[in-house]
Amino acid sequence: MYWQSLLVLALAAPSRAIVRFHCSQLVRERLDPLVEPGANPSAHVHQIVGGNSFNATMEPGKDMPGESTCTTCTFADDFSNYWTAIMYFRAKNGTYKRVPNIGNNQFEKANGGLTIYYMQDAIYDQNQKSNVTAFKPGFRMFIGDVHARTLAEASRYRYLTYTCLDTWTQRSPEMIAFPQRKCKEGIMTTLRFPTCWDGKNLDSPDHMSHMSYPETGTFESGGPCPATHPVRTAQVMFEVLWDTKQFNELEWPADGRNPFVWSFGDATGYANHADYVFGWKEDSLQKVLDSPCYFYTNCSEYGHKLQSVDDMNKCAQKPVVGEDIDGWLDALPGGYHSQYGPASG
Ligand SMILES: *[C@@H]1O[C@H](CO)[C@@H](O)[C@H](O)[C@H]1NC(C)=O
Ligand SMILES: *[C@@H]1O[C@H](CO)[C@@H](O)[C@H](O)[C@H]1NC(C)=O
Ligand SMILES: *[C@@H]1O[C@H](CO)[C@@H](O)[C@H](O)[C@H]1NC(C)=O
Ligand SMILES: *[C@@H]1O[C@H](CO)[C@@H](O)[C@H](O)[C@H]1NC(C)=O
Repeated sequence: MYWQSLLVLALAAPSRAIVRFHCSQLVRERLDPLVEPGANPSAHVHQIVGGNSFNATMEPGKDMPGESTCTTCTFADDFSNYWTAIMYFRAKNGTYKRVPNIGNNQFEKANGGLTIYYMQDAIYDQNQKSNVTAFKPGFRMFIGDVHARTLAEASRYRYLTYTCLDTWTQRSPEMIAFPQRKCKEGIMTTLRFPTCWDGKNLDSPDHMSHMSYPETGTFESGGPCPATHPVRTAQVMFEVLWDTKQFNELEWPADGRNPFVWSFGDATGYANHADYVFGWKEDSLQKVLDSPCYFYTNCSEYGHKLQSVDDMNKCAQKPVVGEDIDGWLDALPGGYHSQYGPASG
């Protein structure tokens, strides 16, 4: 629904930026410097985008993103790393195949990756006018629960959703479990982070409790932040387009269950999650947010450095974890198998 509104937005004049851009794939492999720092390999496979200093450790306190020499993102000063799990297809014979993720609308030439938004108000709000605070160097956060297998467990997190795409630009309805039918064009996952910061901690043991959702209402409705987390940040949102088309041709499980599964075994979809390691150069994110630029398209007119999709693609890293994640696999990398949760056994 909001996609249509965004096209209308082009006619209105935001007084603050609404930022939408793409980051091509940096690397896909089993590393997770936020939740399992130092582990090589980490438990499950991720797709990572952003600055090329990404590695297994990324020690807090060291300005890791500052050591990047390039980024896979449209904004050349954004050396952050953004990552999610990877979707697999489980064939009738029990083997698994990685579902490719592809460039989003307007970024069709991108080598996979994620589309990233930074918002100050609701995405459908034609006049972004609230002031939000950019993240500080060293800031990190996580959202979601890899162990969630029920609706009740997933309900703790708002806005980690799935859209079954019958057309390329469809953006609703959003569901919180895997679609249960064949989606003509693919599946989009949308991941929104909380927007209230405690103002003190750059991270926390669960990588979540230094952040909070608004006390009442929502970010979209301008709900106030709680006193414990008073600093209103931009809303970071990822969109990921999973190209499931080739799997619509194959036979699906006879029991009628959805054949898609996350790289750590969740076949319910309730354990969708996302990771963020801030790494914009100096105060470049605050500068972008404070200028009335639109998506990325006219942001260079406010002095923000952009790069072409070709240059974004060129920054890709070589995986350091040597294993096959792309063939027809007997088990998901790390040894996982699909689990449907308690209700269906
Ligand atoms: C950029 O686009 C936005 C939205 O259309 C508009 O309000 C703003 O004036 C534009 N800025 C420039 C310099 O064209
Ligand atoms: C990650 O990069 C940092 C900074 O360049 C470096 O100190 C660290 O040793 C690297 N870790 C690994 C596992 O490569
Ligand atoms: C399992 O099924 C897939 C999809 O039909 C097929 O490509 C693959 O070769 C099969 N693997 C085995 C071991 O039969
Ligand atoms: C946002 O901050 C600017 C100064 O940077 C100020 O002029 C403006 O009134 C503020 N807007 C709101 C809605 O507080």
